[in-house]
Amino acid sequence: MARILLIIGGGIAAYKAAELIRVARKAGHSVTPVLTAGGAHFVTPMSLAALAESPVYTSLWDLKDESEMGHIQLSRAADLVLVCPATADLLAKMAAGIADDLATTLLLATDKPVVAAPAMNVRMWLHAATQANAAILKSRGVMVLEPDEGDMACGEYGPGRLPEPADIIARISPMLKSRGALELPGGQALEGRHVLVTAGPTHEPIDPVRVIANRSSGKQGFAIAAAAARAGARVTLIAGPVALPTPGGVARVDVETAQQMVDAVQIALPADVAILVAAVADWRVANAATSKLKKGGGPPALQFAPNPDILRTLAEHPDRPRLLVGFAAETHDIVGNAQSKRTAKGANWIVANDVSGDVMGGARNRVHLVTDRGVEDWPDQSKEDVAAHLIDRIAKELN
Ligand code: CTP
Repeated sequence: MARILLIIGGGIAAYKAAELIRVARKAGHSVTPVLTAGGAHFVTPMSLAALAESPVYTSLWDLKDESEMGHIQLSRAADLVLVCPATADLLAKMAAGIADDLATTLLLATDKPVVAAPAMNVRMWLHAATQANAAILKSRGVMVLEPDEGDMACGEYGPGRLPEPADIIARISPMLKSRGALELPGGQALEGRHVLVTAGPTHEPIDPVRVIANRSSGKQGFAIAAAAARAGARVTLIAGPVALPTPGGVARVDVETAQQMVDAVQIALPADVAILVAAVADWRVANAATSKLKKGGGPPALQFAPNPDILRTLAEHPDRPRLLVGFAAETHDIVGNAQSKRTAKGANWIVANDVSGDVMGGARNRVHLVTDRGVEDWPDQSKEDVAAHLIDRIAKELN
C-alpha cells in the first residue's frame, strides 16, 4: 500500500480533500496532507489531521525544527505526490518550476511520480495558458487527470469539476498497487526494449486527390508511444496521416496506406512489443484511377481488394514480437468481439474500446483489457492515462 503526499490547492473543490483522505485510507494507503495558504481558506488543518492521523504541513518554515522532516525528506518519504485540487495557479507554477511556498517547493524537489487532479472554472481550464501548462506537465511524466464535466460552483457548465474522490483513487490505483509499480509514468521499466506502435488512420486512394479514410485521430497511439519512451524504451511509431507532433524520444515513420504500414512495420522488426493501435482500412480500392475522376463520368464503380492484416502478419512472422497487443474498436458486444479477435488474429492482448460515443477524435477512452487470463474493465480515463496504465502492464509482463 502506498504513502500519498497530498497537496491541497486553494479552490472550492478543496473541501473534497477530506473525503479523498477517507477513501484513500479505507483502501489501505497512508496520507500526509500539505495545505497551501489558499487551501486553508476552504479546509482546516485540524480536520485534515484528524482524518489522516498525520501532521498537516502548511509552511516551509514549519520544517526548520530539527525534529521535523526537511522539505526534501518530506517530498521523498512518499510513494506518490497527489495534487488535489490542482488549481490553475498551481499548474502554472509546476510548469514553470516556481517554488515559492511549501507545496511548490516539494513539487520541485520530489523524485516520485506526481499526479495532478485539476479543478477550476471551465474558462480557466480551457484557457490556452492552462492547457499549455497541462501539456508541459504531461510531457514531463506528470499524470494530469481530466476534470469532470458538469455544473460548476460558479454557475457555469463544462469541464473543470474535480472528479469524485473515489473515482480519483480508482484512476490512480494502478500506480498505488505496490511500490514496485511506482516507476511509472516515468522510470526505466522498459529500458533496452524495442516497442513498435502503429497509430492513426490509413488513407486508401480512389484517385490522385481522393481517399477513403476513417475518423481515427491517432491520439491514443501517440500517447502510448510517448508513455513507452518515458519508460525508457526505444520506440518506433508508424503513423498514418495525422497532424500530431512527434512525442519526445520517439522515432516516427509516416505512411499513408495499409500496404505502406505493413511494409514499415516489418522493416522495423525485431521488436519486443508491438502495439497496433492504428485503424487500418480493411479494403483498398483495387481500381484506383491514376488521373482525377471527373464528375461528368458519373459515380465511380469502385472495386475493393482486401488489405493485409498487420496484426495477423506479425502473429505469423518469424520475428514475432514477444508481446503482441491489438486494439479493437467496437460499437456493440465489445468484450465478446475482442475475445474473438484475440484468438482469431493470434494477439496476446486486445485492448477493446467502445467507439459508439465520441472516442474517435476525443480525449478520453474507456477500455477493457482482454488477455488469456480474462477481462479487466478499466475506468473511463484520458487517453494519456490509458497509455500509462497499458505501458505499466506491459513492463510488468516483460520483466
Ligand atoms: N488491424 C491490422 N490490420 C488490418 C486491420 C486491423 O493490423 N488490416 C489491427 C488493428 O490495428 C487493431 C486490430 O487489428 O489492433 C483490430 O482492428 P479492427 O479494425 O477492430 O479489426 P478488424 O479485423 O478490421 O475487424 P472488424 O471486422 O471489426 O473491422
